[in-house]
Amino acid sequence: MSSHALPTVVDPAVYIIHDNPEWIVPFTEALDRLGVAHVEWLLPETTIDLTAEPPQGLFWSRLSASAHTRTDPHVKEYGRAILDWLAAAGRRIINGRGVYELEVSKVRQHRELTARGFDVPRTAAAFGAEALTEAAATSTPPFITKHNQGGKGLGVRRFDSHAELAAATEEFAPGGANAPIDGITLIQEYVQPAQPFITRAEFIGGRFHYAVRVDVSGGSFELCPADACEIPRAGADDSAPQSPFVRREDITAQTPLIGRLEALLTDLGIEIAGIEFIETADNRQVVYDINTNTNYNPSVESGEQSEGRQPAVDRIAAYLAEALASSESPSPAASLTP
Ligand SMILES: Nc1ncnc2c1ncn2[C@@H]1O[C@H](COP(=O)(O)OP(=O)(O)O)[C@@H](O)[C@H]1O
Ligand SMILES: [Mg+2]
Repeated sequence: MSSHALPTVVDPAVYIIHDNPEWIVPFTEALDRLGVAHVEWLLPETTIDLTAEPPQGLFWSRLSASAHTRTDPHVKEYGRAILDWLAAAGRRIINGRGVYELEVSKVRQHRELTARGFDVPRTAAAFGAEALTEAAATSTPPFITKHNQGGKGLGVRRFDSHAELAAATEEFAPGGANAPIDGITLIQEYVQPAQPFITRAEFIGGRFHYAVRVDVSGGSFELCPADACEIPRAGADDSAPQSPFVRREDITAQTPLIGRLEALLTDLGIEIAGIEFIETADNRQVVYDINTNTNYNPSVESGEQSEGRQPAVDRIAAYLAEALASSESPSPAASLTP
């Protein structure tokens, strides 16, 4: 086997396809606690043999929209190719090919939400930087820009006037500080939260797991729930920094919006997701981001543990274990294969 071939094991295992080893540790630890075999597939600089069958097992795509900021500009294409190959071989994929297209396109997310009657921010897409000011022409400031292929707040900036945007368009051109990887920048209505927080609802196996409120009073648009992004709050007691991520007990599986989001996920075949929304002073619940990856916030997760509730990483490991076990039961088609 060449040094670039993706690793495989003989017995069925959970294969995690991803673009950032740092984010995977909590999941592999949770799988280890359950004794479930797992293999990581980090795509850049690897090969697949298209004449060979993929290994037996369950495949979980943890590919993220922001991969190009960490590794290689073409991860999206590697992901598309490998998910196509696995799907063609009939492998069971969690968050598979169609889900990946949604992850990497806010235009597509917006369309799916709109089609189901969700309240979404008014949005226009600009293809190329020169089209940005025209895309914004009918929007009333303040508005924000964001990259179509986003994640971690890429390209998210607030503009309080058309002139301010006109002065910044170069940033969004190829080579500029804010250039979108796919050339598409969205201009979006700025949605003012009633209180300075957004909410991110987590779903596992298509079902609601918990919702987290994320404090946005600092004005940052880069909301990374992972450990690396947890910043001690200025002015707070230094010995006990208050986390900007807190579980919302008032959002439950019975909340009407949550039920509608579960139906959307079922419809689109999304098994694991974190969906963000803003509640406004005039009682709108505006949904603006569908993430098919979450790096669960460590302080929320340990709070769940102390409350005797199952942390999200453990729920995911259990879900993967169940899906692996059912992908192993021979189907009639498989038994005909020599
Ligand atoms: N339309 C909006 N109005 C107000 N704030 C927004 C809006 N869209 C995004 N934000 C803020 O910017 C953050 C990042 O935007 P988001 O669409 O979630 O992109 P990403 O995929 O990069 O996370 C959000 O979590 C939220 O705090
Ligand atoms: Mg987001």
